[in-house]
Amino acid sequence: MHPQEAYKPYRIKVVEPISVLSAGERRACLEAAGYNMFNLRSSDVYVDLLTDSGTGALSQEQWAAMMRGDEAYAGSRSYERFRAAADDIFGFRHVLPTHQGRAAENVLFSAVVRPGHVIPNNMHFDTTRANILANGGQPVDLVIDEAYEPRALHPFKGNMDLAKLERLLDEVGVDRVPFVMVTVTNNGGGGQPVSLANLRDVSRIAHARGLPLILDACRYAENAYFIHEREPGYEGASPLEIAREMFALADGMTMSAKKDGLANIGGILALNDSSLFERARDRLILMEGFTSYGGLAGRDLDCIAVGLYEALDVHYLADRIGETRYLAAGLRDHGVPILEPVGGHAVYIDAAGLLPGFPQAQFPALAVTNALYLEGGVRAVEIGSVMFAHEDANGRSVYPRLELVRLAIPRRVYTRDHFDAVVRAAASVSAGRDQLPAYRIVEGAGPLRHFTARFAPMARS
Ligand code: F0G
Repeated sequence: MHPQEAYKPYRIKVVEPISVLSAGERRACLEAAGYNMFNLRSSDVYVDLLTDSGTGALSQEQWAAMMRGDEAYAGSRSYERFRAAADDIFGFRHVLPTHQGRAAENVLFSAVVRPGHVIPNNMHFDTTRANILANGGQPVDLVIDEAYEPRALHPFKGNMDLAKLERLLDEVGVDRVPFVMVTVTNNGGGGQPVSLANLRDVSRIAHARGLPLILDACRYAENAYFIHEREPGYEGASPLEIAREMFALADGMTMSAKKDGLANIGGILALNDSSLFERARDRLILMEGFTSYGGLAGRDLDCIAVGLYEALDVHYLADRIGETRYLAAGLRDHGVPILEPVGGHAVYIDAAGLLPGFPQAQFPALAVTNALYLEGGVRAVEIGSVMFAHEDANGRSVYPRLELVRLAIPRRVYTRDHFDAVVRAAASVSAGRDQLPAYRIVEGAGPLRHFTARFAPMARS
């Protein structure tokens, strides 16, 4: 079914009040926050599109399941239900719950990544990159070139560039590559999907060299929906069938259940290899908790067990991707350049396209992000030089190829009225684009600086 024909597959039973501050109040809040959206209070925000992570609304079935939460330390019934869902959908031999996605990454990476290791991925997202660096590894992004052209239309813009992958493996040598990763969908590059054909090729290349393939599966259900919609031969396949086919090509996965687990907290690490699992299991017990709860309450495991299936419902997915497309259409109508084609969980404004000539060193995507808040109380997240610029070995600044402002849509939370308000805010930002200030960092460094840095506005050079 095409999303435009989708019906809203739920109605609202519980509501959460929100309010809008005046323009003057927003200005004061932004200044107090050091011009960083992460420092704002949620009560200062009207439409909160900072992230789709853990911000979704639970269903009545999830709430009901949580009432059955078994809080036993070991071997709880909640774990059994979580495990049954994970086995059914993912099909890996070993499964460990974690408190969120980055914990699954750190459990795995601290068990296998050593200084000098190189980890290929289509694109590492911020915490994945930082976790690899923290364990002495080097994250390398090998997505296809089209991913870096905001207006290049490609149905699977998250695909790994196979030639780049083979070249890297030849150059580095398999001894220095503990595994190959693929992120579905590719969050750093616009929430773009990876095709089954590409996953099959990556799996073949990795396996030919004896390397495991690990999926970063946060948004696996949205990826499956795009395959259902776009990949020849899969029109008739359900998202669940497609998901199973995706995971069958891999040897393990890390996942934040805060995305396509439709939960407010939780993560998953799954592996086929038993010796790798044993090392990861011991790290888990050390850092997260025992193997049957991994830092979560029993009720959280029950919430995920239900959410994993709800996220694969084709009507839910059609509605969800339809929301992203609705917001994108509104922005296009007002001439706001966005990353095309629109991705799964978010619309990404192309800040470099909106502000041509704006120096990357002065943070164009931050300028747009902050202006969206001032105009409409909309909280977006910068995915540009604040998040990804870094220094090379010679101390020279390396800037990312994209300057994006991500409008991430929480699951089952906002209505079209909210999206219309976001469009109005973006339209006035676009109209006043020549007046937007530049920014400089006054506090903050390192690969996680975007979470805590403080900025000051300045005249654009
Ligand atoms: N991998 C990807 C692709 C992600 O997008 C995230 C989180 C993680 C791993 C880590 O998961 O937050 O549960 O520890 N992304 C969120 C975001 C935070 O806003 O995109 P986590």
